[in-house]
Amino acid sequence: MVGAQWGDEGKGKVVDYYTRASDAVVRYQGGNNAGHTLVVRGQKKVLHLIPSGILHRRKTCFIGNGVVIDPVVLFGEIEDLKAEGHLKTPRQLRISDRAHIIFDYHRILDAAQEKSHGKGAIGTTGRGIGPAYADKTARIGIRVAEFIDPVKLRERLDAILPVRHEMLEKIYGTRCPGVSEVVREYQPLAEKLIPYVEDTGATLSKMISSGKRILFEGAQGTMLDIDQGTYPYVTSSSTVAGGACTGSGVGPTAIDSVIGVTKAYTTRVGAGPFPTELPEGDPVGEHLSSTGAEFGATTGRRRRCGWLDMVVLRHSVRVNGLTGIVITKLDVLRGLKELKVAVAYKLDGKKIDAPPASPIDLGRCEPVYRTFKGFDEETRHARTLRQLPKNARAYVEAMQELSGVPAILVSVGPDRDESILLGDPFCCGRKPARG
Ligand code: GDP
Ligand code: IMO
Ligand code: MG
Repeated sequence: MVGAQWGDEGKGKVVDYYTRASDAVVRYQGGNNAGHTLVVRGQKKVLHLIPSGILHRRKTCFIGNGVVIDPVVLFGEIEDLKAEGHLKTPRQLRISDRAHIIFDYHRILDAAQEKSHGKGAIGTTGRGIGPAYADKTARIGIRVAEFIDPVKLRERLDAILPVRHEMLEKIYGTRCPGVSEVVREYQPLAEKLIPYVEDTGATLSKMISSGKRILFEGAQGTMLDIDQGTYPYVTSSSTVAGGACTGSGVGPTAIDSVIGVTKAYTTRVGAGPFPTELPEGDPVGEHLSSTGAEFGATTGRRRRCGWLDMVVLRHSVRVNGLTGIVITKLDVLRGLKELKVAVAYKLDGKKIDAPPASPIDLGRCEPVYRTFKGFDEETRHARTLRQLPKNARAYVEAMQELSGVPAILVSVGPDRDESILLGDPFCCGRKPARG
């Protein structure tokens, strides 16, 4: 299950919803830059690192090798969950021995790099995600297996930290913690981590061989993917479906279906091109922002809002190989007179139907809109397509037709139960659902 836009599509809600039908839930990339919101009978829970299946006692949650883990955040989240009566045993949360660790110095570097970029800053979440992935790729990262072994941890830090020191203190003029300081801060957390650690890839392979259903939970969204997104205004991991394989140690032949979660409109947090963005002060933009409560679940930043972009959604269909979509926040469109959907872009007088590679060119694209009729009736009580207002139904049908992919769920409110179930996420190849 992947985000089909720029993140915050409602993946947390949808993963929690489908955990019932799964045996395990796996986070495979990203870190605590994610903020996944679950609402169960009015009770709200935001998760950053722990998979969104964790409220289901009998299901196993996995943090795969592709994730970057900030141990301070991880244990904060574990303690919160325990205090609320969840996560009673480490058997319920298994963490890959190959995942990478985010240290203080990654966060310090994230902030220093953003500051040095000035106006060109990416607007990261400041959680040290980019620097941790950069270390992983440069082969100077520290993995969980070494983190939990005091001798290996010190050895790795002795080798790595002098380089970091040079960079942080000489180039950026900020302080870098020394080896002993890092060991002192992180050693207690490393010990606490031991009961959760295993070769999660091997466990998942066994589960798959014995016919278990595994739900892979993407973080961020396709347009924030390091390769397929609006580079350089992206995150530093593979947010697309392929990332589920590399980030969990499961081969692509084990994946049966790929679901893209998309809002009925579009939002984005941080910098970067956004062709259908509505300018600040635009009444429709204000409606989406306030009715949709569009503030980041991680940083609290105001999300930029705009119309649905089919060029983006079709790009997502292609790069993820989507077999189904989940449409969220349909209820937020209620009260708008007309609904616009970008069906193509115009760039230098030419019509194009795929996002150009350069962020400068994407920023110059003019959306070509198709207009649909709005609706005023309440939608949040609807549990079948027929119970939706006629114009809302027509919009859902248009989203399926324009994307070429059937909807398997339509979400009409934040609560787990505010959902119209249309198909099985584990099966592919359904025909577009009609009201
Ligand atoms: P994620 O990062 O993809 O998990 O999404 P976030 O949790 O960051 O943001 C989605 C927000 O929309 C959360 O506040 C959800 O509670 C809320 N939400 C999810 N689905 C719906 C929906 O269908 N309608 C409304 N009104 N809110 C929703
Ligand atoms: P979920 O999983 C929305 C954005 C940041 C920034 C860019 C890079 O909740 O959908 P990073 O800290 O990753 O280096 O920031 O990516 N970003 C997100 N936007 N939802 C998220 O996660 C995001 N995670 C990162 O705002 O533009
Ligand atoms: Mg989010």
